[in-house]
Amino acid sequence: MRYLPCLLLWVFPQVWGQFEVQQKNYTFRCMQISSFVNSSCSTTDASAWLEDLQTHRWSNASDTISFLRPWSQGRLSNEQWQKLQHLLQVYRFSFTRDIQELVKMVPKAHYPIEFQLSAGCEVYPMNASESFLHVAFQGEYILSFQGTSWQKAPEAPAWLELPIRVINSDLGTRETVQLLLNDTCPQFARGLLEAGKSELEKQEKPVAWLSSGLSPTHGHQQLVCHVSGFYPKPVWVMWMRGDQEQQSTHTGDVLPNADGTWYLQATLDVEAREVTGLACRVKHSSLGGQDIILFWGKKENNNSGKQLSTDLVICIVVIAVVACVVAIVYLKRKRCFYQGIL
Ligand SMILES: *[C@@H]1O[C@H](CO)[C@@H](O)[C@H](O)[C@H]1NC(C)=O
Ligand SMILES: *[C@@H]1O[C@H](CO)[C@@H](O)[C@H](O)[C@H]1NC(C)=O
Repeated sequence: MRYLPCLLLWVFPQVWGQFEVQQKNYTFRCMQISSFVNSSCSTTDASAWLEDLQTHRWSNASDTISFLRPWSQGRLSNEQWQKLQHLLQVYRFSFTRDIQELVKMVPKAHYPIEFQLSAGCEVYPMNASESFLHVAFQGEYILSFQGTSWQKAPEAPAWLELPIRVINSDLGTRETVQLLLNDTCPQFARGLLEAGKSELEKQEKPVAWLSSGLSPTHGHQQLVCHVSGFYPKPVWVMWMRGDQEQQSTHTGDVLPNADGTWYLQATLDVEAREVTGLACRVKHSSLGGQDIILFWGKKENNNSGKQLSTDLVICIVVIAVVACVVAIVYLKRKRCFYQGIL
């Protein structure tokens, strides 16, 4: 009995460590765009994404799939990767051929034709996952793979029933799709998660600044709060007066920067005489609870100012400690010196 607490102390971190590997859900998604100009000319481009990080690119011009991250092969061996790539090469070739055949069968389908496919899986903690495969035709969602077979989307036109019956009669393809969706996708995605963990969990701090936008009407002013360079994507930006959130704050879309971080701007239209006391507040996971607050019309208004003062404090503390140590050593020596004399 005496050893039970020790045992618990030993076991708990082991079990906890296993849970720690993955706490949130991640989506791995492959996107395919195929354009058929006429019965003999077509292109297919594809990309793969883990959340908002692009991991693979496969252009029409290339026979092989390009890795966009050092960890894009996940936990697959070279041989396993070659096998998977070969399967996808066969798929790409057959897809083009089959569509050209189907178009001949269906009088309603006319070139040019565009297909978009989105397929992948969402992996949950504890080995659970859910896969999906959706197809759009001329920009409309028409078809998905559900369980073991292809199913027409509810809104899709009735004439699709014939081609869907035809593709459902191909049992070999249906089995391959199940294998890819049920097994390959979640396993590959988990491998990517492990291999790319540090990049997926990176935290980049936002930088914020204010500017004046185009004034919408006379006597009004548009205040713009720019927030840039943050990762991951979730962020909260709001114009405030004291503790009051200004509900008319308009936040734009979160836009990508070239370096893989994100950008967002939040604007507020106010009467020109009401601008004093307004501030832009930014919350982001990388800031560790220390929100950025920028007051409109104040000069020393940037987060680098705050950073500077913390750096200054750290610097002073370091200098003080060093000075103390030097002083103590010096005094000790001096005492020894006097003791020597006496
Ligand atoms: C997770 O699933 C994979 C295959 O889907 C299986 O090989 C593995 O044993 C499972 N692991 C656990 C802990 O259940
Ligand atoms: C794949 O998963 C679906 C449920 O999502 C299931 O109905 C089907 O039988 C599975 N197929 C294989 C081959 O495991």
